[in-house]
Amino acid sequence: MTRPEVEVVECDVLILGGGMAGCGAAYEAAYWAKPKNLKVVLVEKGAIERSGAVAMGLSAINCYMGMKWGENQPEDFVRYVRQDLMGLSREDLVYDIARNVDSTVHMFEDWGLPFFKEADGRYKREGRWQVMIHGESYKPIVAEAAKKAVGEDNIYERIFVSHLLNDAKDPGRIAGAVGFSVREPKIYVFKAKTVISAAGGATGVFRPHAIGEGLGRIWYAPWNTGSAYKLMIMAGAEMSQFEHRLVVARFKDGYGPVGMWFLLFKAVLKNAYGELVESKWADLLKEWEPYGSGKPIPTPLRNHQMLRDMMEGKGPHYLRTDEALQKMFADVQHDKKKVREIESDAWEDFLDMTMSQALLWASENIDPAKTPSEVVLTEPYLMGSHASATGAWVSGPEDIAPSEYFWGYNRMTTVRGLFAAGDGVSGSAHKFSSGSYTEGRSAGKAAVAYVYDNPDDPNIDSDRVEDIKNELWRPFSVVDDAKGTSTGDVNPNYVAPKQALHRLQKIMDEYAAGQSAFFITNEPTLLRGLELMELFRQDLHKMAAENLHDLLRCWEVWDRFWCAQTHMQHLLYRQETRWPGYYYRGDYPELDEENWKCFANSRYDAEQNEWTMSKKPYIQVVP
Ligand code: FAD
Ligand code: ADX
Repeated sequence: MTRPEVEVVECDVLILGGGMAGCGAAYEAAYWAKPKNLKVVLVEKGAIERSGAVAMGLSAINCYMGMKWGENQPEDFVRYVRQDLMGLSREDLVYDIARNVDSTVHMFEDWGLPFFKEADGRYKREGRWQVMIHGESYKPIVAEAAKKAVGEDNIYERIFVSHLLNDAKDPGRIAGAVGFSVREPKIYVFKAKTVISAAGGATGVFRPHAIGEGLGRIWYAPWNTGSAYKLMIMAGAEMSQFEHRLVVARFKDGYGPVGMWFLLFKAVLKNAYGELVESKWADLLKEWEPYGSGKPIPTPLRNHQMLRDMMEGKGPHYLRTDEALQKMFADVQHDKKKVREIESDAWEDFLDMTMSQALLWASENIDPAKTPSEVVLTEPYLMGSHASATGAWVSGPEDIAPSEYFWGYNRMTTVRGLFAAGDGVSGSAHKFSSGSYTEGRSAGKAAVAYVYDNPDDPNIDSDRVEDIKNELWRPFSVVDDAKGTSTGDVNPNYVAPKQALHRLQKIMDEYAAGQSAFFITNEPTLLRGLELMELFRQDLHKMAAENLHDLLRCWEVWDRFWCAQTHMQHLLYRQETRWPGYYYRGDYPELDEENWKCFANSRYDAEQNEWTMSKKPYIQVVP
């Protein structure tokens, strides 16, 4: 590969990732930036019209209070999230999203997103927090608004951001980022006064169910490789709840989400012998008080019940779509038009969001009204926007955050000028698409305020940039140096990115509580896993790229590697099992409210290659 050309871009606010949070940040930052003519730039590895977890579209907006209809208040949402997360949430952050999310959703409607409506004009509810949309074009609608807000010239697409730059004179402050084009040999150096990390959660860290050709068929977005986290970890930002993860029930192989089936269609999960999993294992919940008897049953505890049934050998497990739909048909007296409407909602759920599920049903001759469908638990994902809370430790909003959670600007990390949003922020679960966008808006507004208060130019260390350039292109020189020693993928002198990915996924699956280990680990297992990770790291410097696509894959492996390392350090640190069904510490199998009802935080020192772990208090904000 030829040596890359280098382009330097200077701006005030730099947004990394043009997904839901990134588009929200762009929209809001552009508004507040106008009075002083500040420059807002957004960088995206794909094309924002169809990038990120919402690329395929969605069939519901899972975070909407409905305050104008008196449906819910922000305090109700905080209590719900607290219960689902088994006690541990940053209630200031959750409250902040809840109080602002409705205005975001109303904007989406103004921009043309079609909603299912009730006769009185309310959004049709799927569940208490979820509203239904015809959402195939959700992402193009949101992306268009972001483009209009910052101007197309300020959107840099097909650029993979790989490194953050700390200030040369003040390493505790951010100065910009570096990335490379996935289309041409070109490296971009972004010099910025403030940076918002919104580059999504991490998939592919653990071995998935489908391997070989099916490797990318997972539930969460396969192209989200944990960049939001890796960038912040390497820049020295404090991370929180990185032991947390998401494991969810999904229709087997197609990975269709189950929410609409549980909540709207009232379908139930039964084992192969017709036993109702939830009631059969009701007593299990008593071991997890005070959360076991709360409502709703926390997502990890629902998994816990299903896992116990699996281990008793009672699978396959089925979501009884057949029973649910037949009951709904009977309720409408088998009126043909109404039956058709119900069927069409059932199919649209997937056609708007996870087409693979509809295709799988069609190819397996499954009519959901007649045949139940298998459900399994996914491999773990690291993300902060679903029933999960992985991410950066950020400052809360000044009017509600307790002093322990406040250091100046809403959603700013512990690195000055570096903000996070969406999957990037820890402790504020259940924000989903609308909440991520809302959080992006908060971060965008606060980042502009930061620039108003800190207008001085950042200092870039040119030696550091030179080092990064060489590091970025190393996978090409690895191939050049090894030319002629062998052919194809198998070469004694290098590792192909896919081989590296498989090795990472195997370590994580076996040592860090993956699905084949039934989500169980313990201290000796984790320590052995960390040894293997250290050996793996040495080999990773031999990753090889023949073209820009390979180069992208190499750097995606590095993202996942650093997420995996941080995840393992956190799993090791928290000496309890707080979220059974997500993971179990075999050596600490119980909830320990006295010692561990707190946040587990980490900071990585890249120069010393050292992790510092600490506890941060949980403070109840909403009674
Ligand atoms: P994303 O929206 O994923 O955005 C991250 C962006 O960063 C992407 O554009 C990505 O391409 C970019 N990026 C990644 N790495 C880099 C890099 N190195 N450099 C530059 N750019 C980078 N939510 C709901 O509200 N309702 C639902 O019904 C629902 N169903 C879902 C169904 C599926 C199948 C999936 C996958 C998600 C669903 N969600 C749903 C969740 C919702 O999509 C996420 O919560 C939300 O998108 C998270 O926002 P984010 O901005 O953090 O991440
Ligand atoms: S989605 O994001 O891909 O749509 P999913 O289908 O799991 O995810 O969930 C959609 C919404 O329904 C989320 O708000 C989730 O917390 C909720 N949900 C899913 N299953 C249940 C259940 N059995 N009980 C209560 N809430 C549920």
